[in-house]
Amino acid sequence: MARAFLERKGLDEARLEAELLCAHALGIDRLRLFLRLEQPIESHEVDAARDLLVRRGRREPVAYITGKREFYGREFAVGPGVLIPRPETEQLIDLAREFLADREAPLVAEFGCGSGCIAVTLALELPGSHVVTCDLSTTAVAQTRLNAERLGADVETLIGDGLSVLGERLRREAPRGLDLLVSNPPYVDPASRPELQPEVRDYEPELALYAPEGDVDHWVKQLLAAAKKWLAPRGALLVELGAGRGKAALAAAEAAGFDARLHQDLARIDRVLEARPRA
Ligand SMILES: C[S@@+](CC[C@H](N)C(=O)[O-])C[C@H]1O[C@@H](n2cnc3c(N)ncnc32)[C@H](O)[C@@H]1O
Repeated sequence: MARAFLERKGLDEARLEAELLCAHALGIDRLRLFLRLEQPIESHEVDAARDLLVRRGRREPVAYITGKREFYGREFAVGPGVLIPRPETEQLIDLAREFLADREAPLVAEFGCGSGCIAVTLALELPGSHVVTCDLSTTAVAQTRLNAERLGADVETLIGDGLSVLGERLRREAPRGLDLLVSNPPYVDPASRPELQPEVRDYEPELALYAPEGDVDHWVKQLLAAAKKWLAPRGALLVELGAGRGKAALAAAEAAGFDARLHQDLARIDRVLEARPRA
């Protein structure tokens, strides 16, 4: 019934989502659902499951309904006002780990923490590192602090316009420069809003999604300018890119005096710009 309802609403993953939501309503994990099917279901449980299915039918993302999403093998709490972590962002973590593998106590800064998925994961995957992150959204910073605490990560968080607050922080206390500046910045062209999935367009925060009108590469250029000032000579900038923006990002990095390259994701889309100060 639950699956048929979501199918009628046009959802491609109706079966999986129906199972996830019914399990969530019963307070159990998806695999236990099948064991529970032998037992009678209380009417309040039916009501709870129906409410969740109705929300999903209105295209609210599953992660906001269940309040969680997995990223790099860990469960992150998420909610409205915070971007839901995406699988393609895990590539930033792989590249950062590879790049920092031989460094003793790397200093890492992130622009735009959202749920904290990048900052918290890097702090946990790179023992001995110091990770500082920031967001203009107080909801995002609160979510990052919550996830850091739950997952046992030590992350420094700053609230405010990222380039200003990170700039101040680094001027005060980072004489040797950053080993890594990393970001998944807002990169969706606002002109493409009508083509976005309703889950994204109608539920995820605009501040997290959209680049400034008419300047889709704004944050790449801003991050390159910041990297110029903040990176240590052997440091690097890693920025996640929107589909189709690889060439422009590479050209901007080269024009700004970096040795730069692009990394493709599993779908062969240029997904990450890596830029290192020219020796
Ligand atoms: C695409 S989301 C990335 C969130 C998270 N790092 C992730 O990968 O899921 C971009 C984040 O940048 C934040 N942001 C947008 N403009 C900002 C600014 N001027 N200063 C700091 N953060 C900003 C948004 O609030 C949002 O959390």
